[in-house]
Amino acid sequence: MSVGLNPEVERLLGRMTLREKVGQMTQADVHSLRPGAVRELGIGSVLSGGGGNPTPNTPAAWAAMVRQVEDEALESRLGIPLLYGVDAVHGHSNMRGATIFPHNVGLGATGDPDLVERVGRITATELLATNVRWTFAPAVSVPQDIRWGRTFEAYGEDPGLVSSLGAALIRGLGVDPDRPVLASPKHFVGDGGAMWGSTRRYDWVKGWWNSAAPDRWQLDQGDLRGDEASLRSVHLRPYEHAIAAGALSIMISYSSWNGQKLHAHRYLLTDVLKGELGFGGFLVSDWLGVSQLDPSFERAVCLAINAGLDMVMVPFEYERFINAVDGAVEAGIIPYSRIEDACRRILQVKSTLGLFAHPFGDGALLPLVGSDGHRAVAREAVSKSQVLLKNARSALPLSGGVRQVLVAGAAADDIGFQCGGWTIEWQGGRGAITEGTTLLQAVTAAAAEASVVYRPDGDFEGEHAEIGIVVLGEAPYSEGEGDRSDLALAAEDVGLVRRVRDQCDVLVLVIYSGRPLIIGEVLESCDAIVASWLPGTEAQGIADVLFGMEPFTGRLPYAWPESMDEVRSPNGRAPLFPLSHGLSTGRRDDSDRTDEHLA
Ligand code: BGC
Ligand code: BGC
Repeated sequence: MSVGLNPEVERLLGRMTLREKVGQMTQADVHSLRPGAVRELGIGSVLSGGGGNPTPNTPAAWAAMVRQVEDEALESRLGIPLLYGVDAVHGHSNMRGATIFPHNVGLGATGDPDLVERVGRITATELLATNVRWTFAPAVSVPQDIRWGRTFEAYGEDPGLVSSLGAALIRGLGVDPDRPVLASPKHFVGDGGAMWGSTRRYDWVKGWWNSAAPDRWQLDQGDLRGDEASLRSVHLRPYEHAIAAGALSIMISYSSWNGQKLHAHRYLLTDVLKGELGFGGFLVSDWLGVSQLDPSFERAVCLAINAGLDMVMVPFEYERFINAVDGAVEAGIIPYSRIEDACRRILQVKSTLGLFAHPFGDGALLPLVGSDGHRAVAREAVSKSQVLLKNARSALPLSGGVRQVLVAGAAADDIGFQCGGWTIEWQGGRGAITEGTTLLQAVTAAAAEASVVYRPDGDFEGEHAEIGIVVLGEAPYSEGEGDRSDLALAAEDVGLVRRVRDQCDVLVLVIYSGRPLIIGEVLESCDAIVASWLPGTEAQGIADVLFGMEPFTGRLPYAWPESMDEVRSPNGRAPLFPLSHGLSTGRRDDSDRTDEHLA
C-alpha cells in the first residue's frame, strides 16, 4: 500500500471546517462515546482498548458494535468513513471464539516469515468479519532486557528477525486488495531499550501504575539512554522494513529517549520518520500517552501535534481534545498547516484502504472466525514455535504407544494461561476465557491408548508411569504489570517438578512464559525441557512435537540466561542457552519404539 496525491481527498479537505479536520484527528474509546458523538463531531476513529469488548463477547456482537459507530460516521455532515482500531496482537485477541495465535515471542522462535504472513492474513479475515479495519500491531520492539513485561509482544532481541517478521505480518494484514487491514507497527521508537528503574509515574494521569508490587512498572514506559547510532541500528531498523512493507500508520511509544518523551519528539517524529524515512502515513499516539506530556491537557495536546502526531488516542476526553486543538489553532500555537497535513494523511490512508468504497468489513466472513482451517494454521505456528532446550537420552519424541502418562501443573489445563496477556482482557485471565484446546486435552488425544492421569498439584502417590509431563510458567500479564525483577521459577513450581520426578521414568517440562525464565536446579532433574512461550488456543501444536508428529524446529529468539545477575549485567557472560539455540528432532515413524530411544 502506498499513498499518492488524491483528488477525492483534496476535494474533501476543501469542504471541511477546522473542527471537522480536528475531528478526523480524534480517536475515542468505544465505551466512553456518547450516542451521536461520532456523527455530530465527525470523529475519525474509534478504538477498543484491551478488554473493550461488547456484551456478550461474540463475533456477531463485535460486528454490530463496530458497525454502529461506522454507520454514525457515514451520517456525519461529510459522511467520511470511520477507522476502527483494536489490539489484534495475536489474532483478533479480545474476541471470544477467535483464533488465538502464539504471541510474537513464539512467532519469533519459528523464524518463518511465510508463516507469519499467513497469520496476518487470517487475523485480517477475522477482523474484517467484525468490520474492524485496523489493528495496533505488530509490535516491532527490540527488547534488550527480559525483565520488561512486553518482551513477549516482540519477535525477539535481534533487529533483523524483528524486521523480517514485522514486515511479513504487515503484508499478510494488507493482502485483500478491496479491504486491506491497516497495521500499526509500534511503539516508535526504542520502547524495548528502556532502562530498569527509569519509568516515571505522572500523578495527573490516572489509569496505569496501579499495581502495589514494588517491581512493577519499572522499565515499561521508561527511558532509553544511548546515542543516536545505536538507536538507529537496533530500534529504528524494523520501522524502515515496516514502511517498505506498506505500513501506513505507526504508534508512538510512551517511553523517552535520553529523557525526552517520544510523544513530543519533533526530531524523531517529523524529521527522521516523516522526513528522512519518507513515511507517508499517519502517526497515532498511545492510550493517554499525550496526557503524560504536561499537567495541562491543553499544553500537552499542542506539544504532541506540533511534534508531528496526526491522530490522538484520547481516549476519553474527545470533546475536550477537539476544543483544545481548535483553540490552539485560533491562538496561533498550532499552525493551521499542521492540521491540514495531519488530516490529509488520515484521509489519504482511509482512501488507500478503500474505506470510501467499502466502509465496513464483510459479514460473509463470520463463519470463518475460529474455523478449523484458521485453527490449523495456529496449530502449525505452535508446533514450529516450540524450542527444545534439553533432550537427554533422546527423551523426545515420545511414543504414541506409551501406556501411562502423568500430567501435572494447573497450567496444563488452562486456556487463559496458555494465551497470556492481551487475550479477552487487557491483562488476560485464567481458566476457560475462550474456546480452544489445552495441552492436557491435546496429550490425551495424542496418546490415545494411554491412561493419562492429571493432578494439577503433582500429587501422584502410589502411581508410577513411563512419562511425566509438568506444565508451568508465568501467569498472564501485560505492559508494566509484567515487569519483574526476579524471573526465577516459583518455589512451588520447583517443588512440583521434584514430586513428579520421583513418579516417572522420563520427565518432560513444558514452560509457558513470555520470556526466558531462570530455571535453576530443574535443568538437571528434567530429561527434556520445552520453551513453549504463550502458544494461544491451539495446544495440539505442542503435543504434535512432543509425540513426533512434527519435528522440533524452533530456535530461541532471546538468549536464555542462567541467573538474574546475568540479566542485570549481561556483559561478557555466556548464557545458559545462546540466542538461536534449539535442538531438533525428526518425525517419529510408527515403527519407532520408546525403549529404543531410552536405551
Ligand atoms: C490499555 C487499555 C486498557 C487500559 C486499562 C491501557 O493501558 O491499553 O487497553 O483498557 O489501560 O486502564
Ligand atoms: C498500549 C498499546 C495499545 C493501546 C490500545 C496501550 O496501553 O501500550 O500497545 O495499542 O494501549 O489498547
